[in-house]
Amino acid sequence: MVSFLKLLLVRLWLFWVSHCSISVVVGGAENVVDGTVFINGTASIARTDDNFICATLDWWPPDKCDYGTCSWGRASLLNLDLSNPILLNAIKAFSPLKIRLGGTLEDIVIYESKDGHQPCKPFVKNTSEMLGFSKGCLPMSRWDELNNFFRKAGAAVIFGLNALSGRTISSDGSTVGAWNSSNAESLIRYTVNKGYTIYGWELGNELSGNGVGIRVGADRYAADTNALQNIVQDIYKGFEVKPLVIAPGGFFDANWYKEFIAKTSNSLQVVTQHIYNLGPGVDQHLIDKILNPSYLDTGTQPFISLQGILKSSATSAVAWVGEAGGAYNSGRNLVTNAFVFSFWYLDQLGMASTYNTKTYCRQTLIGGNYGLLDTTTFAPNPDYYSALLWHRLMGSNVLSTSFSGTTKIRAYAHCSRKSKGITLLLINLDGNTTVRIRISTETAAGNEVLTVQQTQRTKFARMSRDSKTIYGNNTREEYHLKAKDGNIQSQTMLLNRKILAVNSSGEIPPLEPLIVKGTDPITVAPSSIVFVDIPGTNFPACM
Ligand SMILES: *[C@@H]1O[C@H](CO)[C@@H](O)[C@H](O)[C@H]1NC(C)=O
Ligand SMILES: *[C@@H]1O[C@H](CO)[C@@H](O)[C@H](O)[C@H]1NC(C)=O
Ligand SMILES: *[C@@H]1O[C@H](CO)[C@@H](O)[C@H](O)[C@H]1NC(C)=O
Ligand SMILES: *[C@@H]1O[C@H](CO)[C@@H](O)[C@H](O)[C@H]1NC(C)=O
Ligand SMILES: *[C@@H]1O[C@H](CO)[C@@H](O)[C@H](O)[C@H]1NC(C)=O
Ligand SMILES: *[C@@H]1O[C@H](CO)[C@@H](O)[C@H](O)[C@H]1NC(C)=O
Repeated sequence: MVSFLKLLLVRLWLFWVSHCSISVVVGGAENVVDGTVFINGTASIARTDDNFICATLDWWPPDKCDYGTCSWGRASLLNLDLSNPILLNAIKAFSPLKIRLGGTLEDIVIYESKDGHQPCKPFVKNTSEMLGFSKGCLPMSRWDELNNFFRKAGAAVIFGLNALSGRTISSDGSTVGAWNSSNAESLIRYTVNKGYTIYGWELGNELSGNGVGIRVGADRYAADTNALQNIVQDIYKGFEVKPLVIAPGGFFDANWYKEFIAKTSNSLQVVTQHIYNLGPGVDQHLIDKILNPSYLDTGTQPFISLQGILKSSATSAVAWVGEAGGAYNSGRNLVTNAFVFSFWYLDQLGMASTYNTKTYCRQTLIGGNYGLLDTTTFAPNPDYYSALLWHRLMGSNVLSTSFSGTTKIRAYAHCSRKSKGITLLLINLDGNTTVRIRISTETAAGNEVLTVQQTQRTKFARMSRDSKTIYGNNTREEYHLKAKDGNIQSQTMLLNRKILAVNSSGEIPPLEPLIVKGTDPITVAPSSIVFVDIPGTNFPACM
């Protein structure tokens, strides 16, 4: 009796599967299509750090302007208001959030030191200078404030060191000479003496390959990185946990990176690359690129290439994205700080994880047009909540995932952070189509099936086992993200139809799921993003 009922249910389910995988039109112009996400739960294909999410703070002063817009306000490391409660709460919510301090001007920062003879002055705009500003100085009083703030907020700090110190720069952007590490060394000693914890010391910003104006050769850079490793080993002698040595924080260039990685196999722990694959912020077609799945797919290239180099090299270094703002020259207002940018950002997080990237630093936490927080009000932009949901839901084991039904769905799956189940990330780039999604482990179970006869009976057995595996625990949790009023350029995001906003005391709102029956298909609305947490899937990769 029981097995008869089971068979009947399976038949009904198969009927649904075979009759509903065609497009139907309901109520007006809105389309509904069916699709299937295939997940291989046998083994994970990559692993991220537990704290994959990272965001940056930059040095740009208020008079840093692009295309006539000055978007940095007071978001520089030198003047950011560290007493703002939203800033503190936003970082605390991650406990910990990795924060990388750096950017273009880091290479010419001078750290105030007792033996320094120069006065400690801020950056001054000077268009005759290669980087657009004169050398600026970090006062140790400000460094104290920053460290006290980061300690209170529970941030893991990565600091980018002044890699142009001591080099002569030619007018063609090439450089001569070694990195003069003496000023950096005095900063590191000061930091250790004060008892401040630094998670990683990174050497330089965007000087790899052809650089962005200024470049340093791979052989020279490797020697300087080895020097940094010696300094760190020396200063942190006797420390059980030493900071990571990180470099080069530049744009991926296969030959340069290959040589650099080969020559730092004993010193480098993390190799960083920067991602600005959408072009300049002034580009009128940023949204078209973000909504185009083929364009997004081209973003896998630097991840695949870097993973290949690391696999074939003797290094034990791992890959991070050290800075990614999508659109360079400070992003674009109402695009890189709006709901639509979560399509790009979450897709990047998914792709980067798939290729074994351990950490992904978003440019910026605050500042420019691409902040997770609004530069003026500090209010979280949509990407802040997207990052927080990723952090709370996606575990570190990455599962092989593919999707069939429409090219407009981007699908990623990890083992769940909260349970032994899985978490799915589904991004619907299509503004007119609702996608109804079922999950299949066919690729995972495929092996098994190949070894047994493909009779109707084993097929049924497999199907019912799969549905038991997936839906064993009767409910799942869903987080549906949409733009307010359906306007993808809105800076306000809805979670399960409720506006996400800090309250008057600057508290980050709770992120509450919808509880959904496990047997219902997952429905992804047009221009929306859904995280689905499914406990009790019992995938070997997640046990
Ligand atoms: C601007 O930079 C150029 C090149 O380094 C220098 O010669 C000039 O004195 C600077 N101008 C000011 C006002 O500092
Ligand atoms: C490095 O810079 C310091 C000043 O910051 C200077 O005293 C020292 O001579 C320089 N070292 C080299 C090798 O040029
Ligand atoms: C929906 O489809 C209509 C008609 O094809 C089109 O004009 C419109 O731009 C689409 N809307 C979105 C948000 O993609
Ligand atoms: C699933 O992953 C396992 C382990 O990586 C692999 O051996 C197997 O071939 C995969 N199954 C399919 C159908 O791709
Ligand atoms: C489903 O899983 C959740 C989280 O693991 C658990 O709290 C809940 O009790 C489970 N429900 C059932 C019906 O097993
Ligand atoms: C703000 O939200 C937090 C957490 O949700 C809550 O504890 C606090 O009471 C709220 N404050 C106000 C003024 O509403």
